[in-house]
Amino acid sequence: MWWLYQQRRRLHSSVCLLKKLKGKSPAEQRWLMRQLKDPYVKASHAQNFRCRSAFKLLEIDDQFRVLRPGYSVVDCGAAPGAWSQVAVQRVNSAGTDPALPRGTVVGVDLLHIPPLDGAHFLSSHDVTDPTTHAKLLELLPDNHAHVILSDMAPNASGFHEMDHEKIISMCLSLIDLAEKVLLPGGSLVCKYWDGILVQKLQARLSSVFSSVRTLKPHASRKDSAERYFLARMYIKPGK
Ligand SMILES: C[S@@+](CC[C@H](N)C(=O)[O-])C[C@H]1O[C@@H](n2cnc3c(N)ncnc32)[C@H](O)[C@@H]1O
Repeated sequence: MWWLYQQRRRLHSSVCLLKKLKGKSPAEQRWLMRQLKDPYVKASHAQNFRCRSAFKLLEIDDQFRVLRPGYSVVDCGAAPGAWSQVAVQRVNSAGTDPALPRGTVVGVDLLHIPPLDGAHFLSSHDVTDPTTHAKLLELLPDNHAHVILSDMAPNASGFHEMDHEKIISMCLSLIDLAEKVLLPGGSLVCKYWDGILVQKLQARLSSVFSSVRTLKPHASRKDSAERYFLARMYIKPGK
């Protein structure tokens, strides 16, 4: 009986898959097949995360303890909100554990970010725009953050060097944001795509953070140029 049940389930899944693939371009079919096979996509559904990227931040935070209860966090490029979900849990900004200090999470994105208990979102806002910096300052307790997270990425054009330059300039703009909002001793996690300008970014980060390391979480696809910098112990210029 069990064998028959399993056979039926497999047949049902195959029919569903064929329906999903129907009418799709070869590139869309490849993307869909990759999503369906991806264990992190499955796990994100099972654990109610908005997307698989949650596991990259979970892994970074499990290893380096960047997010602590009571901390204030700015999440740059927050849509659809999976990193903010992780940050809300780790800094206790929804007040889930009344015994722990309650933190703050503020997310920013050019796109709409669906509401999330424990987070405040600035949808349709550009992180690189100084008017966004001013709004962030107003939303942060005592006008400062312990951590800046950035999983921001431009829409990929497919031209590697151009996309690389764009994401590096976004990362560099985070140094301006840090100067306005980040507490001395604070941390920055930022995504970049590997390429010739990485050394320049690393040098700029090293000029204002005591420790800068490169990370490639397991949840980050091996065949992608995606990497993260974890910069710790912020030194505020002029302090
Ligand atoms: C990979 S997604 C982020 C996923 C997110 N960390 C999560 O876990 O749900 C990258 C996001 O960066 C956003 N983005 C790109 N440039 C931006 C900018 N200048 N300001 C704000 N958001 C930006 C995009 O709109 C996109 O939603």
